[in-house]
Amino acid sequence: MRYVLGCLLAGLLFASVALASAEGAAELYGKSCKGCHGADGTKVVMGMTRPLKGLPVDEVKAALVGYKAGTYGGEKKAMMERVVKPLTDAEVDALAAHVAGL
Ligand code: HEC
Repeated sequence: MRYVLGCLLAGLLFASVALASAEGAAELYGKSCKGCHGADGTKVVMGMTRPLKGLPVDEVKAALVGYKAGTYGGEKKAMMERVVKPLTDAEVDALAAHVAGL
């Protein structure tokens, strides 16, 4: 009985994590990115970024991973570093997919 319950619980947990990554990415974008890049990703931040909308997923991911590692970016990269440092790799993946689909 305990085993069955354990499996059930593990299953539920897994399902909610999977759900969280798709929905969570939209929420995370709204919370952490929209203010600068715009709700639909068309804003050019401080006249220097490319609009996020229309960027291929690989480029978004490379930029986010690079900002996190401190290996990508221009003059204002510290702004992005602060935003992406606390994100997990899974969140970066989910966000890149979300941004590419804007
Ligand atoms: C405080 C404002 C701000 C927030 C919040 C912010 N960004 Fe940025 N973003 C910038 C600036 C400024 C740059 C350009 C930095 C540089 O490299 O000099 C940039 C650059 C980028 C780039 C690279 C664009 C290019 O032209 O190469 C991507 C991709 C990006 N941001 C995605 C995101 C995502 C996803 C989020 C949310 C997790 C986010 N940003 C949150 C200000 C912000």
